Amino acid sequence: MSDKIFFITTAIDYTNAPPHIGHAYEKVLADVLARWHRERGRSVFFLTGVDQHGQKVQQSAEKVGLTPAKFAEEVTKSFKALWAKLGISYDGWAETTDPRHIRAVQDVLQQLHDQGDLYRAKHSGYYSIRQEQFLTDKERNEEGEFGPEWGEVVLLEEENWYFRLTKYRGWLAEYLADHPDFVTPAFRGAELANAVAKEAGDLCISRPKSRLGWGIELPFDRDYVTYVWFDALMNYATFAGYRAEADAALPAFDTLWPCDAHVIGKDILVPAHGIYWPIMLKASGVKAMPKLLVHGWWNLGGAKVSKSSGNVVDPAVLAERYGTDALRYYLMRDIATGQDADFNEERLRVRYNADLANNLGNLVNRTVSMARRYREGILISSAAEKSSDIATLEALGAEVARRFDDAMRTYQVHTALEAVWDLTVAANAFVESSAPWKLAKDTAQSARLDEVLRALVEASRLAAALLHPIIPEAADRLLAQLGFSGNLSIAWGVAGAEHRVGEPVPVFPRLENPTSV
Ligand code: ME8
Ligand code: MG
Repeated sequence: MSDKIFFITTAIDYTNAPPHIGHAYEKVLADVLARWHRERGRSVFFLTGVDQHGQKVQQSAEKVGLTPAKFAEEVTKSFKALWAKLGISYDGWAETTDPRHIRAVQDVLQQLHDQGDLYRAKHSGYYSIRQEQFLTDKERNEEGEFGPEWGEVVLLEEENWYFRLTKYRGWLAEYLADHPDFVTPAFRGAELANAVAKEAGDLCISRPKSRLGWGIELPFDRDYVTYVWFDALMNYATFAGYRAEADAALPAFDTLWPCDAHVIGKDILVPAHGIYWPIMLKASGVKAMPKLLVHGWWNLGGAKVSKSSGNVVDPAVLAERYGTDALRYYLMRDIATGQDADFNEERLRVRYNADLANNLGNLVNRTVSMARRYREGILISSAAEKSSDIATLEALGAEVARRFDDAMRTYQVHTALEAVWDLTVAANAFVESSAPWKLAKDTAQSARLDEVLRALVEASRLAAALLHPIIPEAADRLLAQLGFSGNLSIAWGVAGAEHRVGEPVPVFPRLENPTSV
């Protein structure tokens, strides 16, 4: 692997409502990838943050009688508190009300204006307040109506500023054809290519201050603020140091860009990240394009998780109830990256018991307890030739580590987890087949007992080290018990000639009644 900085971002979350389980999932996914890259020796810059401007924030603030600034600030706090609770290890934090961001966005707008990519025009038509966009006939459903997903739709006539997307569409179509790795998974890339091929107009990038004050003022027309998406998308560049050369607190843009993985949900690929964003970059003179990693959605009983439908699951409550790592584990295990999944708290409990408590937790607990019971916690390497069952376990360890990394490289965290469970299941079976309690009764088997216990320690340690990006706190505790504090090596045979284990303390206490809490 090269030592280039792996630059990963997530969509910045709207501050129009508190975070929900979908937000938590996206952040955990990005965090797991960031940690995995770091643990394999790469430099990582992980940027995330909040999208604080726009009509939705202004409306939510009005409802509770706060200024948009105060409202956004409060919600921002709840996001930051949740990311701290979930162990999200971001390196950069983006807030779109940051003056540095505002300056850079205005700088780009001025450039686009000066080079003739923006023009002022009158438009009348249907406008969705919820989605903050004018609607065209292609947004109508089979009944010829604008469906409930658009919320309140009003007829509006307005003069605004437009960005000449049409001028760059040909370039984008070609770029997509030449760069099939622009979007992961590939089926989302195909969706994007279809959308680009369809006839579409320019992008309205302004909102008159008369109806929306909460945004970045256009530098060349003070009656308008910038459309929230144009503002928000720029965060990926501005908080990576774009057009902020003088700011020592931000990274040097050239060392980071382009982003290796913009982690976004499927709802914001077309048109925002797939069309507006690359064209914005191209028009402002940035040559290298980022890569997009598009994840699916968590639903609740088949329905969308959304604040308006009242079916929000509070991730902070779940983390409190089951532990941060149990929540992180479930969010990584019960979905395939790119696909949708159904959130189900009972499944979380069942997975916890089966995988973390009974499988992993039990393996480590038995291993450490036996090492203490039969060897007073000190395992001496024996000169005996490696038995074939131990050689088999070791070979499996190497294969699992390879499969794990291959899956992570392609963002399939659930597949990586399945690989680890193959190792722990085999190691638990090896406990039964090697029966250390019998070996301990027979002095002639002393060297074999050492070998068996050391193999179990290695298998347990390897499993914990592999799992570290997904369940960092729990993995640290497991490693400490096994006598490998802070050692994240994924090789076999890390124990020294005289290895001492720690205290066996249950890390994943079993939930007694997983189907009702
Ligand atoms: O879209 N399951 O913000 P947002 C999985 N501010 N992911 C989900 C989800 C769910 N149920 N619900 C939302 C915005 N997400 C803009 C982004 S980026 C320049 C601006 C994901 O708070 C969603 O797909 O509505 C998006 O990636 C992220 O959460 C933030 O959504
Ligand atoms: Mg959204």
